[in-house]
Amino acid sequence: MSSNTVYLGGRFIPKSEAVVPVEDRGFLLADAVYEVVPFYEGVPIYLDRHVERLRYSLDAVRIDFDTADVADIARRLVTVNGLEREDRSIVYLQVTRGVAPRTHWFPEKTVEPTVFGYAKAWTRPAEAIWGRGFTAITVPDRRWTRVDIKTINLLPNVLAFQAAKDANVDDAILVRDGVAIEGAHQNFWAVIDGTVVTHAATNLILAGITRGVVLELARAAGIPAAERPIQVEELAVAEELFFTGATGEVRPCVQVDGKAIGNGRVGPITRALSAAFLELVERTKEEAAAVAR
Ligand code: PDD
Repeated sequence: MSSNTVYLGGRFIPKSEAVVPVEDRGFLLADAVYEVVPFYEGVPIYLDRHVERLRYSLDAVRIDFDTADVADIARRLVTVNGLEREDRSIVYLQVTRGVAPRTHWFPEKTVEPTVFGYAKAWTRPAEAIWGRGFTAITVPDRRWTRVDIKTINLLPNVLAFQAAKDANVDDAILVRDGVAIEGAHQNFWAVIDGTVVTHAATNLILAGITRGVVLELARAAGIPAAERPIQVEELAVAEELFFTGATGEVRPCVQVDGKAIGNGRVGPITRALSAAFLELVERTKEEAAAVAR
């Protein structure tokens, strides 16, 4: 396995040869959107939903780019880097508004978007670590109010995650107006009175693909689910907390700001949803194998 071949400007090339001009608007202005797609032994999970979300982000910031080839580019990044045998890998894809002298307005329509992609292996934490659960702190959500668009403007997320690292905990929970909104790169969930609760897909969260899948899995399993704000005070009474995301799957959170959640152990609903998610991955792999036969 490797991640030495990247995609840039229409070509698959060695990473060492991939160079972006200094006037790229992604570099100067974070004028760009991105996607992260999970693959399991070379099989993507809901690749179509990721392409759809990329389309949504591009349209929201008015970057004129045809997404017709995105699924093929993502699949090829996995194969050219020999990641089909990896349990888990991710493809990162970024589209910037292109290279042009720096202005606060859009460049001429003739400027081509820059498309960059790479693939790399991703390792789920060992069962013993997952089984103990993860710790988090709450930090103020200092992001803009259009985080439904997956832009590369991630400085507030980086500062939030670094605050967690500095506090020697695993994750950050972003809090806005007394509401536990989401993680620095994952959606956030609570189990309250037996109901799984996560913020509604408004402009204040990124509508995670994993979040959508887990909502479907909860409903299919007969677990009551609600999309509403989780007040910070509710964390103290929640039975369970967890995060979801492409690079987290269903990730239990057992301690916030130094206080244990529930009995301080990974709870039954988190375990059930994690198992359901992993079963969905297995089914998706089997379906892909059947199509390939
Ligand atoms: N992050 N919320 C935020 C702020 C995110 O950045 C992400 C994903 C999610 C979860 O979305 P999904 O289930 O589609 O992965 C929620 C990616 C993985 C990243 O930035 O690396």
